[in-house]
Amino acid sequence: MTSVVIVGGQWGDEGKGKIVDYYASKADTVIRYSGGNNAGHTVVTGKRIFKFHLMPSGAVAGKRVLIGNGVVIDPEVLLGEIEMLQSMGLNPDLGISERAHIILPLHKLSDSAEEKIKGKWKAGTTKRGIGPCYSDKAARFGIRVIDLLNEEVLKEKLDMLFVLKERQITKVFNEPFEITKEEIFKKYTEHAEKLKKYVTDVSVEANSTIDKHKHVLFEGAQGTMLDLDHGLYPFGTSSNVTSGAACTGTGVSPKKIDEIVGVVKAYTSRVGEGPVPTELLDETGEQIRKKGMEFGTTTGRPRRVGWLDMVTVNYACRVNGLTGLAITKLDILGGLNKIKICTAYNYKGKMITEQPADVNVYAHCKPIYEEVPGWKDMSIEEWIALAKKGYDALPKEIKSYTARISEISKTPVYLISVGQDRDATINLKDLFG
Ligand code: IMP
Repeated sequence: MTSVVIVGGQWGDEGKGKIVDYYASKADTVIRYSGGNNAGHTVVTGKRIFKFHLMPSGAVAGKRVLIGNGVVIDPEVLLGEIEMLQSMGLNPDLGISERAHIILPLHKLSDSAEEKIKGKWKAGTTKRGIGPCYSDKAARFGIRVIDLLNEEVLKEKLDMLFVLKERQITKVFNEPFEITKEEIFKKYTEHAEKLKKYVTDVSVEANSTIDKHKHVLFEGAQGTMLDLDHGLYPFGTSSNVTSGAACTGTGVSPKKIDEIVGVVKAYTSRVGEGPVPTELLDETGEQIRKKGMEFGTTTGRPRRVGWLDMVTVNYACRVNGLTGLAITKLDILGGLNKIKICTAYNYKGKMITEQPADVNVYAHCKPIYEEVPGWKDMSIEEWIALAKKGYDALPKEIKSYTARISEISKTPVYLISVGQDRDATINLKDLFG
């Protein structure tokens, strides 16, 4: 096996950062393929905690890390992450696609203004300018990394974009517009100077790495339910995050993908607006949120939490073609007497097992649960000690919980995670063997 795609199987925040970091230790190259700094990854190694928004997780493991054309880059954020790593003595071996699009302050202004106009249809975005940047990309107003390196082109494109954005923000959205073109030009040419040494043709490099039978990991951002096409529109993000995006977002053919791993958290969490059928608004929800530290890495917002929803997971298996699952945060459910798994929805008396496209139908879906026994609570050290002993040492209730997930989703479990630490991992399939 040479190339593996990692995708979020739910609403993002499934613990992908840790899983990618884990697999990255065995890969040669890690490539981010979609999203931007709306994503947040926390990587814990020993006593060090790293929080990234753009940098592929493999950077900590000292791997070659690439940012593909499907990603939208806020240069200030990326430079901040590069400097943070450098200050810790780690020099990222980074390559950035010439074709990736650049987020400008104008996009952030539009993001906030657009959300206000949308009223009840707002997604509760991270306000990082992600949607407007992808909109400009699709409308062919966008500025790409390659444009950033050419002052003449950057100037021309900024002129064009400014006319549009100034009118839009002041006349359509009725919002103040206090940025000048000159300010942005100055700032972005400085960013370009610092970033130019990283700019590369990611498609050429990714393909040649795969052709040499090296191990390539495609790092997804967000989760299936946030996908622009397959997620809960319009409450998701503005890019494709599902496995197909690993190809379009890097310039690698689907023929070259060997495995697609879906990261699934042992329960549900969601940041932002829109219905979540299994949401827990009670004490149990509060307990899981606190114990699981379910607060956004990017915005710090408390995440909404609920029981595991297998309608979502089954959907993720289908639209991504998942070949295996990585089940995370099982330790967080420790101490609960009974745990619920949603296996279908009841919509006005009718049983639904497929993800509805209509958000109004989804809003009225009531979860149909099966109840399984919980497992005991343990300290971080106990979980790590258990993980080191391997699968057989796990409490029988965890084994049957993960086996049930596998059975319902008809997808094998490749990895079980019982804590943030890299050692709190049980690997059941050697992907880069
Ligand atoms: P945007 O991507 O900032 O435009 O936000 C659109 C929706 O996606 C909002 O509901 C966000 O909360 C959600 N979202 C975006 N990125 C992430 C992520 O990495 N994890 C979880 N939710 C996210």
